[in-house]
Amino acid sequence: MTYIHGAMQNLFDTDGETEALAPGAVLQRGRALAVAAPLVATLERIAAEAPFRRMTTPGGFEMSVAMTNCGTVGWVTDRAGYRYDPCDPVRGLPWPPMPDVFATLAHDAAREAGFADFEPDACLINCYTPGTRLSLHQDKDERDFAQPVVSVSLGLPAVFQFGGNKRSDRPRRVALHHGDVVVWGGPARLAFHGVLALKDGEHPLAGRRRFNLTLRKAL
Ligand code: SIN
Ligand code: FE2
Repeated sequence: MTYIHGAMQNLFDTDGETEALAPGAVLQRGRALAVAAPLVATLERIAAEAPFRRMTTPGGFEMSVAMTNCGTVGWVTDRAGYRYDPCDPVRGLPWPPMPDVFATLAHDAAREAGFADFEPDACLINCYTPGTRLSLHQDKDERDFAQPVVSVSLGLPAVFQFGGNKRSDRPRRVALHHGDVVVWGGPARLAFHGVLALKDGEHPLAGRRRFNLTLRKAL
């Protein structure tokens, strides 16, 4: 996969619809709004089958965010480490399949961000309730870092932190709202990112929750 139009991304460019967060990383404001209701309904159906659960880090800490997955493989963590697994360890069954509405949105958003032919095989679904946070980390359990990550925000707004390739690079903060999409790849593929503690609120589709889909090509 090639990163097509990095040169067109201006760090200071905001056209109201897209905002460059860093070379290789772009925020597409409201990009998922047109399909937000089906996305929420679909993820609720997935979670009814493969329930949200708080996983344990390799160091033995319970994560603040509740997670589930769909796709050929799902991201899991436990005392044995971080990995992609074709099987949901809670149910001992495969993860629910990747819905078309997820895959199509991710493919199209990635293309618009300069990453052609993105075909995700894994979607991590995060559920945040008031106070939930996600500390700075890199997404690096995938095999091919030429493939981007596509993140879709739904429900309550959150403050996203987006930094550089070193943990010590000071992250910038950007508010993510219902329907926003962030794509990062190329020079930003291993950028540290996280989410500050969710503020309480009420969202018409999601109640007191924020959902985030991160679509990846894991295998
Ligand atoms: C993630 O890094 O897995 C999720 C990011 C987010 O919730 O916006
Ligand atoms: Fe992440």
